[in-house]
Amino acid sequence: MAGQFITFEGGEGAGKTTQAKMLADALEAVGVETILTREPGGTFGAESIRKLVLEGTDDRWSGMTELLLMYAARLDHVEKLIKPALERGAWVISDRFSDSSLAYQGYARDLGADTVRQVHDVVMGGFAPDLTLVFDMDVFLSLKRVEQRASEQDESLSRFDKAGQAFHRTIREAFLDIARRDPERVKIVDADGSKPAVHARILGKLTEKYPEFAGRLSGA
Ligand code: TMP
Repeated sequence: MAGQFITFEGGEGAGKTTQAKMLADALEAVGVETILTREPGGTFGAESIRKLVLEGTDDRWSGMTELLLMYAARLDHVEKLIKPALERGAWVISDRFSDSSLAYQGYARDLGADTVRQVHDVVMGGFAPDLTLVFDMDVFLSLKRVEQRASEQDESLSRFDKAGQAFHRTIREAFLDIARRDPERVKIVDADGSKPAVHARILGKLTEKYPEFAGRLSGA
């Protein structure tokens, strides 16, 4: 099978990063070369841009500047890492991709989804994930998880983590709307539950799309 591009999306603190790693391990265990990456980031240049957009005060960038920084990082990531991996037949799992720009810079930052789609078309053309999993979870619970993780790991909150509950409720609704508009590509995963329970839900979505994996992936 050709390389497949799978993205994990959703609000903060929903467990995407842990689950992306669990899925990458499950695919590797059945012999699929899998590249695990993230956005903003994934390449040297894009990780430098990540620092610029995540650190500092909430009003550091205008909505459009933030969007262009995200797309500058994304283009570097796609050109240098994602497309070469897919071309050699590897699978790529990215912890966030363009639906995050649509939700955060489009729906939540007042630029509007249409502007984000236009920038996307100019920069990315028709390039899109084969499958997108949206992690959906109660906003209050997920923000509690973010604060807990930051204090346990002695990390500071990012500009987005600090944006408040109303912002994060908008983000949740945005991702649900994105899934409603593109149900073939975008599937919603209930992110509430133990790690193995959520992992099993993800394997369920994966085997719906790729039935050849049914019964082969651990937990499927
Ligand atoms: P995370 O890697 O911890 O999820 O942090 C990335 C943050 O960046 C998260 O708050 C969402 C935000 N973000 C955007 O606003 N737009 C984007 O296009 C991407 C990829 C991330």
